[in-house]
Amino acid sequence: MCGIVGYVGKRKALPILINGLKRLEYRGYDSAGLALMGENGLMVSKSVGKIKMLEQALEGRDSDSTHGIAHTRWATHGEPSEVNAHPHTDENCEIALVHNGIIENYRTLKEYLQRNGYTMHSETDTEILVHLVHLHYNGDLTEAVRAALTQVEGTYAIAVVSQLHPDTIVAARKGSPLVLGHGDGENFVASDVSAMLEHTNRVVYLEDGEIATVTPHDYTITTIQNVKISPRLEEIHLSLDMIEKAGYEHFMLKEIHEQPECLRNAIRGRLNFDEGMTRLNGLNLQYEELRRIKRIIITACGTSWHSALIGKYMIEEVARIPVHVEYASEFRYSSPIIDNTTVLLAISQSGETADTLAAMREAKKLGCTVLGIVNVVGSSIARESDGGVYIHAGPEIGVASTKAFTSQVMVLALIANLLGRMRQTSVSQGREMISAMEKIPEQIEQILKMEPAIQRIAEGYYRNNNALYLGRGINFPVALEGALKLKEISYIHAEGYPAAEMKHGPIALIDENMPVVVIAPKDPVHDKVMSNIAQVRARNGRVIAIATEGDHEIADHVNHVIYIPATNHLLTPLLSVIPLQMLAYHIAVLRGCSVDQPRNLAKSVTVE
Ligand code: AGP
Repeated sequence: MCGIVGYVGKRKALPILINGLKRLEYRGYDSAGLALMGENGLMVSKSVGKIKMLEQALEGRDSDSTHGIAHTRWATHGEPSEVNAHPHTDENCEIALVHNGIIENYRTLKEYLQRNGYTMHSETDTEILVHLVHLHYNGDLTEAVRAALTQVEGTYAIAVVSQLHPDTIVAARKGSPLVLGHGDGENFVASDVSAMLEHTNRVVYLEDGEIATVTPHDYTITTIQNVKISPRLEEIHLSLDMIEKAGYEHFMLKEIHEQPECLRNAIRGRLNFDEGMTRLNGLNLQYEELRRIKRIIITACGTSWHSALIGKYMIEEVARIPVHVEYASEFRYSSPIIDNTTVLLAISQSGETADTLAAMREAKKLGCTVLGIVNVVGSSIARESDGGVYIHAGPEIGVASTKAFTSQVMVLALIANLLGRMRQTSVSQGREMISAMEKIPEQIEQILKMEPAIQRIAEGYYRNNNALYLGRGINFPVALEGALKLKEISYIHAEGYPAAEMKHGPIALIDENMPVVVIAPKDPVHDKVMSNIAQVRARNGRVIAIATEGDHEIADHVNHVIYIPATNHLLTPLLSVIPLQMLAYHIAVLRGCSVDQPRNLAKSVTVE
């Protein structure tokens, strides 16, 4: 996903812009660039590759400029190249623009501009934006941006500067995140708060369809229809060290270890033990409305889709409400059957995933109540849903999701408990679930202590190029999640399968070169899973088992066993996933992979 940083104020802009881009590196990118307002007009510099390439291109160019914009690009239209990198400028380099999103009607606009004498120099959709602004410019930069955007279909977060307005940044958003930072005699624009956190904690989240005119001492916001908006200045309380690695080698390892604290935050203030009940005021639903729910659709992508699958097991077992889990990318183009007793849950760590946002909007159009289970406060999905639950996992910087996943699962357990207590779950059953939830953080701390043993297991498997993950029931989605973790950070091809399905095909893959990870907790299907393990071993397959403490017998049937504490079987995924995260992490490190920023991946996929 692209990153945007803008600064206008009293200090040198260059270091602020470069450091801001570095704080956004986690979003994934393949080129970077910036535009500075100089004495003699705009100075633009762009480079392919990492930000340090841009710094090298700028070496020795000390700029006194106090005004500029910068960008990291994750290619969608046109390959990663200097000419395709942002900022894009008009012919005379009087206007520069950076963009995150996709202009869906850019071909039509490109022809329109060419008919008006404009020449495109890049393969990007973004370039048409700056020419449109130039076309409409007649002395007022904000009005030129407004006129240009009224012709645009698609998604955008943009920042625009012009040498004709040496102390102004015009910013606008629709479908891609953009936030203003308000300082003392200086103002900031960025894709997310991490790029400005060291300078200010006073922010304004732009809403879709809003345009901001930003100067060193002021900012005004209007809608694209030119209706004035009263800025919603908020104070954020994310300290920088929450963003830094806190001494771990990678953000991902830090975030794996943060999970006990994250899950304490996920349940904090939300459990009423006396009533065996969950408190989720953010759902904005009365008890009567909760009771009226006859069907739930959960939509998400990737890891969030895996937590959705776990949520299905929880809600169906505890609340006896039918749950349908849909890939957001499929749901948004399907003809969903929705009525006013259906509720849609949209799960998204970033709250900006384009497919999930679009699926949610589709459901809203059909009159469905939409609830968001989101991590990033103020994100689009959070703000557009009718209610929801923040998972409070804190910034998740590693592209491979870990703490957000377990926090999503915990929140789904809270929702299942609440819905169940609205129906047939008794106080004592509710209390049992709540007590088990409260124990999970310390149980995870126990599992994390096994990291050295898991690292040793990784040493025996990091040279393999395939892996199979098996699980049954509520642990089948954990098998999918374990496989996704391995494949996305170590580039090993890994598949998750329902354990019983192995004999319908995948068993043909089993030999000594196909490691098989089996999630085999002491649960109602434990003996069935043991049979699956025997089938693997009979074909020289090597088995790593995730088993419940006290299950000593399993150790005689597998190559390695990692024990997890016993818990309510619906909460087992919160524990069984931890060794899989750790295993994937150490295998990826042994393979020398870029763990926090795996190739081709972005932290949040804000394009289709
Ligand atoms: C998970 O490790 C991946 N990074 C990816 O599958 C991610 O879960 C997916 O893109 C959804 O992101 P979201 O939760 O921010 O919507």
